[in-house]
Formats: sequence, C-alpha cells, structure tokens
Amino acid sequence: MKTTKGNGGGVSLETLASLCKRRGFIFQSSEIYGGINGFWDYGPLGCELKRNIRDAWWRDVVLCREDVVGLDASIIMHPRVWEASGHVGGFADPMVDCRACKKRYKADQLCEEQGAKLVRTETGFALPDGVTCTACGSKDLTEPRAFNLMFKTYVGPVEEASAAAYLRPETAQGIFAQFANVLAVSRQKVPFGIAQIGKAFRNEINPRNYTFRSREFEQMELEFFVKPGTDKEWHDYWVKERLAWYEAIGLPKASLQPYVYSSDELAHYASACVDVTYRFPFGQQELEGIAARGGFDLGQHQQFSGKSMEYFDQETNEKFVPHVVEPSAGVDRIALALLCEAYGEEWVPKAGVEGGPMAAEPGREPPDGYEARTVMKFHPRMAPIKVAVFPLLKNKPPLVEKAREYHDVLRRRWPAFWDQVGAIGRRYRRQDEAGTPFGVTVDFQTLEDGTATLRDRDTMRQERLDLDGLVAKLGAALG
Ligand code: GAP
Repeated sequence: MKTTKGNGGGVSLETLASLCKRRGFIFQSSEIYGGINGFWDYGPLGCELKRNIRDAWWRDVVLCREDVVGLDASIIMHPRVWEASGHVGGFADPMVDCRACKKRYKADQLCEEQGAKLVRTETGFALPDGVTCTACGSKDLTEPRAFNLMFKTYVGPVEEASAAAYLRPETAQGIFAQFANVLAVSRQKVPFGIAQIGKAFRNEINPRNYTFRSREFEQMELEFFVKPGTDKEWHDYWVKERLAWYEAIGLPKASLQPYVYSSDELAHYASACVDVTYRFPFGQQELEGIAARGGFDLGQHQQFSGKSMEYFDQETNEKFVPHVVEPSAGVDRIALALLCEAYGEEWVPKAGVEGGPMAAEPGREPPDGYEARTVMKFHPRMAPIKVAVFPLLKNKPPLVEKAREYHDVLRRRWPAFWDQVGAIGRRYRRQDEAGTPFGVTVDFQTLEDGTATLRDRDTMRQERLDLDGLVAKLGAALG
C-alpha cells in the first residue's frame, strides 16, 4: 500500500527507541552479542503493554461476544498446510541485491523510496529505469528475484526434505485447519468466528522502522465465517468495529486512516480489503488488514486434505463452504503506535509553583519556575503500571508502613508500583516516563486522617482521598 509522511505524535524513532531502552519497554534481542536484526525483546514495561493489548483484544473480540470462540494452535504445523494456503508457492517478496555494496532490498520498497513503481512482467518483476542503490548509488543491481519469507526447519533428527517444516508466517492457517473440529465442539452456527493470538515468523528481507517490520512478531487474528453472499455486509461491519476499537485503546481518529484496496490491488479470491493505518513517524502505515477472502482458505484445505469443510445450514437445508472475513492485527505494531502516540515532552511547574503542564518548545529552555518532563500518556487501559505508591519519606517507619498497607490493597486490584527512593518530584518524573496514570503519596496527614494524595499524570492535579475513595476513583478510571 501507498505511504504518506506523517509525524506520529511528533516523536522521532531514535528518541522513542532511546526512551524504550532506558525505561525497559523494548531492548534489542541478544544485545550483549551485538543484536540480531529484526528481533526484539520486551522489557518489564513493554511486556505489560503488550499484555494489555492482547487482553483488550481478547476481551472485546472473544469474551464479550457470543459468536466468537478462541483457539491456540501450534506454531509448527504439517507442511501440507502451507502448500494448501499458497505460502510454499507464493509467499515470496521480490528482492534485489546491489552488486557493488552487497546491500539487499525489497524491490517494491526500493522503487517506492525513489518515486518509481516495480514493473510486473510475465515471469515475475523488473526494476524500472533509473532505480539505484540507496546506500552507494550504484546502478549495478540484480533483477528482482523471489525470496520465500518462511523460516524452514526440520522435525526430528534427520535434516532431509521429508522432515522439512516451517515456522508459521501467520496464525490464520491454524484456524482454518481446525475449522471442522471447532465447529463440532463449539455449537456455533454461521456466522461465527474463531480467534487466535500468537507468534508468527517471516524472514523479512529488510526489517525496518524499529519493531514495525520484524522477523518474529505476534498476530491477533479473527477468522469470521459467513454465509456466501453476506461477505460485504460482514466486511463493512468488521471495518467499523475495528476502527472503533483502536480509538477505544487511545489512538485518536485523526491519526487513523482506513486504506481501501482498489480492485487491481486485491488477491484474486478476495472481494474487499481495508487496512487500518496509523500515522507513524515514518508515514501512514498498516496496523491491521481486514480482508473478505471468500471461500478460498477453507476450499484449499478441503482440496488438499480431502476432508470436508462444508457447513450444513439447518434453517435452509443447504450445504456450503463458508466464506471468511479476516481482521488480522499485529500486537507489536499496535504497541509501537501506542508508544508513538503516548510520547510527550512538556514543561511543568516545579514543586510549590502554581500552574499546569504546557507543551515544551523544541530546543528552548523551560520558563522560570518550570522544568521539562517526558511523559507517556497511555490510555489508562493500556498503561503498563496503573498506580504507583510512594511513602513521602523512606526513613520514617510509620509512613512506610502505612504506604505498604495502601500498596497491598491497590496491587491486589491493579498492577501497582512501589517506589520509596529519591525526592518525591523525581519519583513522579519516573512514573511519568513509565506512563503510570496515577500516583498515591502517603504523608503525615495520612497517619492522622487516612487520606493520601492522588496525583493525575496528565493534569498533575492532586486531591486527597481515603483508601476507599482511592479504590473507588481508580476503579472508575481503570475498570
Ligand atoms: N492472515 C493475514 C495476514 O497475515 P498480513 O497483512 O500479512 O496478513 C497481518 O499481516 C498483520 O500482521 C499486519 O497488519 C501487521 O500488523 C502484522 N505483521 C505482518 N508482518 C509483520 C512484520 N514483519 N512485523 C510486525 N508485524 C507484522
């Protein structure tokens, strides 16, 4: 799909990556050995963020609906699955190599970067005139060659062709392959869906834009099976649902855009496809694809396995192979979008100074009485830590004891952080960077009347509430 330049909340990927490393959202995989391109690890805050994304999706797409059930299929499946799905024959990106500097490119990306379009030929693809190596400027590029994106491995002790298997490049095929079993046990009737969250692997030629295009990533896929002929209405329905979901987790409408595929961009079996795109710092790019795939997938598995994938409709006494509408999202891309959207740099009043936060002006110092803060304004539902509890002073045992009491109550309900180290202002700053929406400070007044201060991350306003009041207030905001 086409891209346009955006500013994704204004943060550069370098700045974001540095915060993510410093605060423990994302690390380079195997960093102590120099890293491995296209693989990422999520640290203490990052794994909570991802968990919140998965939980929100599972809750909204599976648990809160009566017409969707879950599945957790294996990553390695029978290799025939990938022949039936078309991945063995067709899951390939055309790539070109620079003969001078040896850099390798995805052919379509290289063309797009240079304002050109990859040419389709009868036998494959060709580069248009004028395209050069972006790295060294050489014109000495190979013709585009197909490169299968599946990671291959061997099952069992012998590395021979008959033992070859693949790490799944999408979770969807596990759902299609188990369609008949799930239908038999779940007592669902078409229309209904099967959902799955799990890892997928693609040997991407050119992993890039931080975690956006990785070689190991996580998908959240729903295969929604419908009666042939109702594809369009269900496709429209899921596009609306999914766009609304992104807004509900904190991505504003203004930064989301549906990208509607034209008929010449669609796969031959698909009748419609819409990508949900987000305004990343590197352009408007895909978070999720919602495709009306017709009866292609179940039809292929029926043909390759010899097992019927037909559904018997008791109301009409008809048998048919259901069609499918597939909303397919990437957890890592959503995490990256949430990180981009949340990032803010502000000037905030120092302790004892009246006023509220204001947007920092790049390259300038804050005015008198103000200091700079970096704040991650996650939607509370997505924030890795929901509340931090601070005893005002760590060397006053009654304060620490009281604060522990409050922390114990709160952490049974929500992910809660304990911090007693450093000046209170610095502790607030640390939680602002982690994106924690609420801070509770236990001070001397708490010992007298039970009230502690509750600080709001975004407005920095404080109010005093007793423990029941805190639980009620947080409950209303966090669920
Ligand atoms: N079953 C359909 C399917 O897999 P896709 O558009 O290839 O469709 C779906 O992938 C989603 O998976 C994408 O919208 C994206 O969020 C995520 N995804 C795909 N390739 C990815 C990669 N290399 N790195 C991170 N996420 C990826």
